[in-house]
Amino acid sequence: MNFEQLLKEKIEALPQSRVRDAMEYSLMAGGKRIRPSLLYAAVRGYGLEENIADEFACAIEMIHTYSLIHDDLPAMDNDDLRRGRPTCHRQFDEATAILAGDGLLTYAFEVAASSPCSPDKTTAALRLLAEMAGAGGMVLGQCLDIFEESGTTSWQDVETIQKYKTGCLLSVPLMIAAILAGRPQDMDAWHRIGNQIGLAFQIQDDILDVRLTPEEFGKSTSDSDNDKVTSVSLFGIETAERMMNGLYDEAISSVSSFGEFKADEIIQMISDIRCRTK
Ligand code: IPE
Ligand code: IPE
Ligand code: MG
Ligand code: MG
Ligand code: MG
Repeated sequence: MNFEQLLKEKIEALPQSRVRDAMEYSLMAGGKRIRPSLLYAAVRGYGLEENIADEFACAIEMIHTYSLIHDDLPAMDNDDLRRGRPTCHRQFDEATAILAGDGLLTYAFEVAASSPCSPDKTTAALRLLAEMAGAGGMVLGQCLDIFEESGTTSWQDVETIQKYKTGCLLSVPLMIAAILAGRPQDMDAWHRIGNQIGLAFQIQDDILDVRLTPEEFGKSTSDSDNDKVTSVSLFGIETAERMMNGLYDEAISSVSSFGEFKADEIIQMISDIRCRTK
Protein backbone atom coordinates (compact mmCIF):
# COMPACT_ATOMS: atom_id res chain seq x y z
CA MET A 1 0.00 0.00 0.00
CA ASN A 2 1.44 3.41 -0.82
CA PHE A 3 1.77 6.13 1.79
CA GLU A 4 -1.17 8.20 0.52
CA GLN A 5 -3.50 5.19 0.73
CA LEU A 6 -2.17 4.34 4.16
CA LEU A 7 -2.88 7.84 5.50
CA LYS A 8 -6.35 7.82 3.97
CA GLU A 9 -7.11 4.44 5.51
CA LYS A 10 -6.08 5.69 8.95
CA ILE A 11 -8.35 8.75 8.70
CA GLU A 12 -11.26 6.67 7.41
CA ALA A 13 -11.03 4.46 10.50
CA LEU A 14 -12.33 7.42 12.53
CA PRO A 15 -16.07 7.98 12.92
CA GLN A 16 -17.53 10.20 10.22
CA SER A 17 -17.82 13.81 11.45
CA ARG A 18 -17.14 17.41 10.52
CA VAL A 19 -13.81 17.32 12.35
CA ARG A 20 -12.78 14.16 10.48
CA ASP A 21 -13.64 15.87 7.18
CA ALA A 22 -11.44 18.82 8.11
CA MET A 23 -8.56 16.53 9.19
CA GLU A 24 -8.81 14.66 5.89
CA TYR A 25 -9.10 17.91 3.89
CA SER A 26 -5.76 19.20 5.18
CA LEU A 27 -3.93 15.87 5.44
CA MET A 28 -4.79 14.66 1.95
CA ALA A 29 -4.15 17.99 0.21
CA GLY A 30 -0.88 16.86 -1.36
CA GLY A 31 1.97 17.95 0.92
CA LYS A 32 5.48 16.99 -0.15
CA ARG A 33 5.65 14.24 2.52
CA ILE A 34 9.30 15.07 3.22
CA ARG A 35 9.29 13.95 6.86
CA PRO A 36 7.82 10.44 6.29
CA SER A 37 10.10 10.07 3.24
CA LEU A 38 13.14 10.82 5.43
CA LEU A 39 11.99 8.19 7.93
CA TYR A 40 11.51 5.52 5.27
CA ALA A 41 14.85 6.34 3.61
CA ALA A 42 16.71 6.19 6.95
CA VAL A 43 15.02 2.90 7.89
CA ARG A 44 16.05 1.41 4.53
CA GLY A 45 19.55 2.84 5.02
CA TYR A 46 19.77 0.72 8.18
CA GLY A 47 18.80 -2.33 6.09
CA LEU A 48 15.32 -2.70 7.63
CA GLU A 49 12.01 -3.39 5.92
CA GLU A 50 10.39 0.04 5.53
CA ASN A 51 6.89 -1.09 6.54
CA ILE A 52 7.96 -1.37 10.17
CA ALA A 53 7.96 2.45 10.18
CA ASP A 54 4.45 2.93 8.72
CA GLU A 55 2.75 3.96 11.97
CA PHE A 56 5.47 6.48 12.85
CA ALA A 57 5.52 7.83 9.28
CA CYS A 58 1.75 8.50 9.45
CA ALA A 59 2.06 10.00 12.93
CA ILE A 60 4.82 12.43 11.91
CA GLU A 61 2.86 13.62 8.87
CA MET A 62 -0.28 14.07 11.02
CA ILE A 63 1.66 16.16 13.56
CA HIS A 64 3.25 18.22 10.79
CA THR A 65 -0.18 18.83 9.21
CA TYR A 66 -1.67 19.85 12.56
CA SER A 67 1.21 22.33 12.98
CA LEU A 68 0.37 23.86 9.60
CA ILE A 69 -3.38 24.12 10.33
CA HIS A 70 -2.69 25.95 13.59
CA ASP A 71 0.14 28.03 12.05
CA ASP A 72 -2.36 29.38 9.48
CA LEU A 73 -5.00 30.42 12.03
CA PRO A 74 -5.91 34.12 12.39
CA ALA A 75 -4.22 34.24 15.81
CA MET A 76 -0.97 33.03 14.26
CA ASP A 77 0.03 33.74 10.62
CA ASN A 78 -3.54 34.41 9.45
CA ASP A 79 -3.16 32.80 6.03
CA ASP A 80 -5.68 31.88 3.36
CA LEU A 81 -3.85 29.38 1.16
CA ARG A 82 -2.14 26.09 2.06
CA ARG A 83 -1.10 23.15 -0.12
CA GLY A 84 -2.79 24.84 -3.07
CA ARG A 85 -6.17 25.07 -1.30
CA PRO A 86 -7.97 27.43 1.08
CA THR A 87 -6.56 26.96 4.59
CA CYS A 88 -8.55 24.74 6.94
CA HIS A 89 -10.21 27.61 8.84
CA ARG A 90 -11.13 29.26 5.51
CA GLN A 91 -12.67 26.11 4.09
CA PHE A 92 -14.44 25.17 7.36
CA ASP A 93 -14.34 27.66 10.24
CA GLU A 94 -11.92 28.56 12.99
CA ALA A 95 -13.35 26.26 15.66
CA THR A 96 -13.29 23.30 13.29
CA ALA A 97 -9.69 24.07 12.26
CA ILE A 98 -8.58 24.19 15.90
CA LEU A 99 -10.31 20.86 16.50
CA ALA A 100 -8.87 19.33 13.31
CA GLY A 101 -5.38 20.21 14.61
CA ASP A 102 -6.21 18.76 18.03
CA GLY A 103 -7.63 15.65 16.37
CA LEU A 104 -4.56 15.08 14.19
CA LEU A 105 -2.14 15.59 17.08
CA THR A 106 -4.00 13.18 19.35
CA TYR A 107 -4.65 10.59 16.65
CA ALA A 108 -0.94 10.66 15.70
CA PHE A 109 -0.10 9.14 19.09
CA GLU A 110 -2.89 6.55 18.87
CA VAL A 111 -1.58 5.46 15.47
CA ALA A 112 2.09 5.47 16.56
CA ALA A 113 1.25 3.44 19.67
CA SER A 114 -0.01 0.64 17.41
CA SER A 115 3.48 0.20 15.88
CA PRO A 116 4.48 -3.49 15.44
CA CYS A 117 7.98 -2.74 16.83
CA SER A 118 9.00 -4.02 20.26
CA PRO A 119 7.38 -2.27 23.25
CA ASP A 120 10.78 -0.82 24.27
CA LYS A 121 11.45 0.71 20.86
CA THR A 122 7.86 1.91 20.47
CA THR A 123 7.89 3.62 23.87
CA ALA A 124 11.25 5.29 23.20
CA ALA A 125 10.06 6.55 19.80
CA LEU A 126 6.73 7.79 21.23
CA ARG A 127 8.51 9.69 23.94
CA LEU A 128 10.90 11.29 21.47
CA LEU A 129 8.04 12.24 19.16
CA ALA A 130 6.22 13.96 22.03
CA GLU A 131 9.40 15.76 23.09
CA MET A 132 10.23 17.02 19.59
CA ALA A 133 6.65 18.10 18.80
CA GLY A 134 5.84 19.73 22.13
CA ALA A 135 6.73 22.70 24.30
CA GLY A 136 10.45 21.77 24.24
CA GLY A 137 10.34 21.33 20.46
CA MET A 138 8.17 22.57 17.57
CA VAL A 139 5.58 24.25 19.84
CA LEU A 140 8.38 26.14 21.61
CA GLY A 141 9.69 27.28 18.21
CA GLN A 142 6.25 28.49 17.15
CA CYS A 143 5.90 30.41 20.42
CA LEU A 144 9.31 32.10 19.98
CA ASP A 145 8.43 32.83 16.34
CA ILE A 146 5.11 34.50 17.17
CA PHE A 147 6.54 36.65 19.95
CA GLU A 148 9.79 37.63 18.21
CA GLU A 149 10.18 41.40 17.97
CA SER A 150 11.42 42.85 14.74
CA GLY A 151 14.33 45.18 15.41
CA THR A 152 15.58 43.23 18.41
CA THR A 153 15.86 39.77 16.86
CA SER A 154 19.42 38.78 15.96
CA TRP A 155 20.47 35.98 13.59
CA GLN A 156 21.32 33.89 16.64
CA ASP A 157 17.71 34.29 17.85
CA VAL A 158 16.38 33.41 14.41
CA GLU A 159 18.58 30.29 14.29
CA THR A 160 17.20 29.19 17.66
CA ILE A 161 13.59 29.77 16.54
CA GLN A 162 14.13 27.85 13.31
CA LYS A 163 15.94 24.99 15.03
CA TYR A 164 12.85 24.42 17.15
CA LYS A 165 10.00 25.31 14.81
CA THR A 166 11.38 23.49 11.75
CA GLY A 167 14.42 21.45 12.80
CA CYS A 168 12.63 19.34 15.39
CA LEU A 169 10.07 17.81 13.03
CA LEU A 170 12.79 17.16 10.43
CA SER A 171 15.15 15.55 13.00
CA VAL A 172 12.55 13.31 14.55
CA PRO A 173 12.12 10.90 11.57
CA LEU A 174 15.91 10.38 11.39
CA MET A 175 16.19 9.83 15.15
CA ILE A 176 13.22 7.44 15.18
CA ALA A 177 14.89 5.40 12.43
CA ALA A 178 17.92 4.99 14.72
CA ILE A 179 15.64 3.83 17.57
CA LEU A 180 13.81 1.31 15.36
CA ALA A 181 17.18 0.03 14.06
CA GLY A 182 18.43 -0.52 17.62
CA ARG A 183 21.12 2.15 17.15
CA PRO A 184 20.40 4.74 19.89
CA GLN A 185 24.09 5.72 19.79
CA ASP A 186 23.42 7.39 16.40
CA MET A 187 20.65 9.66 17.67
CA ASP A 188 22.73 12.71 18.59
CA ALA A 189 24.37 12.76 15.18
CA TRP A 190 20.96 12.49 13.48
CA HIS A 191 19.70 15.33 15.65
CA ARG A 192 22.55 17.54 14.44
CA ILE A 193 21.93 16.54 10.82
CA GLY A 194 18.18 17.15 11.21
CA ASN A 195 18.90 20.62 12.58
CA GLN A 196 21.18 21.41 9.63
CA ILE A 197 18.51 20.23 7.20
CA GLY A 198 15.84 22.12 9.19
CA LEU A 199 17.74 25.40 9.18
CA ALA A 200 18.56 25.04 5.47
CA PHE A 201 14.92 24.14 4.77
CA GLN A 202 13.59 27.16 6.65
CA ILE A 203 16.09 29.53 4.97
CA GLN A 204 14.90 28.08 1.66
CA ASP A 205 11.25 28.58 2.71
CA ASP A 206 12.02 32.21 3.50
CA ILE A 207 13.75 32.66 0.11
CA LEU A 208 10.82 31.04 -1.74
CA ASP A 209 8.40 33.17 0.30
CA VAL A 210 9.99 36.26 -1.31
CA ARG A 211 10.57 34.77 -4.76
CA LEU A 212 7.32 32.97 -5.50
CA THR A 213 3.72 34.04 -5.87
CA PRO A 214 1.20 32.32 -3.56
CA GLU A 215 -0.13 30.40 -6.60
CA GLU A 216 3.36 29.09 -7.42
CA PHE A 217 4.18 28.32 -3.76
CA GLY A 218 0.78 26.74 -3.04
CA LYS A 219 0.56 28.78 0.19
CA SER A 220 0.28 32.36 1.31
CA THR A 221 3.53 34.31 1.24
CA SER A 222 2.73 36.26 4.39
CA ASP A 223 6.09 35.91 6.16
CA SER A 224 7.67 38.60 3.97
CA ASP A 225 4.47 40.70 4.05
CA ASN A 226 4.38 40.44 7.88
CA ASP A 227 7.99 41.67 8.13
CA LYS A 228 9.14 38.45 9.82
CA VAL A 229 12.81 38.51 10.76
CA THR A 230 14.47 35.86 8.59
CA SER A 231 17.83 35.11 7.00
CA VAL A 232 16.54 36.96 3.93
CA SER A 233 15.45 40.09 5.80
CA LEU A 234 18.73 40.15 7.76
CA PHE A 235 21.27 39.28 5.04
CA GLY A 236 19.54 39.49 1.64
CA ILE A 237 18.70 36.68 -0.75
CA GLU A 238 22.19 35.93 -2.10
CA THR A 239 23.80 35.50 1.30
CA ALA A 240 20.80 33.48 2.51
CA GLU A 241 21.22 31.19 -0.49
CA ARG A 242 24.91 30.67 0.30
CA MET A 243 24.07 29.86 3.91
CA MET A 244 21.40 27.39 2.78
CA ASN A 245 23.79 25.61 0.40
CA GLY A 246 26.49 25.44 3.07
CA LEU A 247 24.08 23.80 5.51
CA TYR A 248 22.85 21.25 2.96
CA ASP A 249 26.51 20.43 2.10
CA GLU A 250 27.31 19.93 5.79
CA ALA A 251 24.28 17.67 6.23
CA ILE A 252 25.30 15.56 3.23
CA SER A 253 28.86 15.13 4.43
CA SER A 254 27.71 14.19 7.96
CA VAL A 255 25.32 11.53 6.62
CA SER A 256 28.25 9.91 4.82
CA SER A 257 30.16 9.43 8.06
CA PHE A 258 27.91 6.77 9.68
CA GLY A 259 29.28 3.24 9.78
CA GLU A 260 26.94 0.38 8.72
CA PHE A 261 24.47 2.79 7.16
CA LYS A 262 23.75 3.02 3.43
CA ALA A 263 23.64 6.77 2.95
CA ASP A 264 22.97 7.04 -0.81
CA GLU A 265 19.21 7.39 -0.58
CA ILE A 266 19.21 10.05 2.16
CA ILE A 267 21.91 11.97 0.29
CA GLN A 268 19.79 11.88 -2.87
CA MET A 269 16.79 13.04 -0.87
CA ILE A 270 18.69 16.00 0.65
CA SER A 271 19.84 16.93 -2.87
CA ASP A 272 16.24 16.77 -4.11
CA ILE A 273 15.00 18.93 -1.19
CA ARG A 274 17.73 21.47 -2.00
CA CYS A 275 16.31 21.75 -5.54
CA ARG A 276 12.65 22.05 -4.48
CA THR A 277 10.61 24.72 -6.23
CA LYS A 278 7.77 24.87 -3.68
C1 IPE B 1 6.12 23.80 5.57
O1 IPE B 1 6.66 22.53 5.45
C2 IPE B 1 6.46 24.40 6.88
C3 IPE B 1 7.90 24.69 7.04
C4 IPE B 1 8.62 24.13 7.90
C5 IPE B 1 8.53 25.69 6.18
P1 IPE B 1 6.64 21.76 4.06
O2 IPE B 1 7.25 22.64 2.99
O3 IPE B 1 7.26 20.42 4.22
O4 IPE B 1 5.07 21.64 3.79
P2 IPE B 1 4.20 20.56 3.02
O5 IPE B 1 4.07 19.38 3.91
O6 IPE B 1 4.90 20.20 1.72
O7 IPE B 1 2.88 21.23 2.77
C1 IPE C 1 6.06 27.39 10.42
O1 IPE C 1 6.90 28.22 9.72
C2 IPE C 1 6.65 26.06 10.64
C3 IPE C 1 5.71 25.25 11.48
C4 IPE C 1 6.13 24.68 12.55
C5 IPE C 1 4.32 25.11 11.09
P1 IPE C 1 6.17 29.16 8.65
O2 IPE C 1 5.05 29.92 9.25
O3 IPE C 1 7.23 29.90 7.91
O4 IPE C 1 5.57 28.03 7.67
P2 IPE C 1 4.69 28.37 6.40
O5 IPE C 1 5.51 29.31 5.54
O6 IPE C 1 3.42 28.99 6.87
O7 IPE C 1 4.53 27.02 5.76
MG1 MG D 1 4.50 30.68 11.11
MG1 MG E 1 3.07 30.27 8.36
MG1 MG F 1 7.19 30.32 5.78
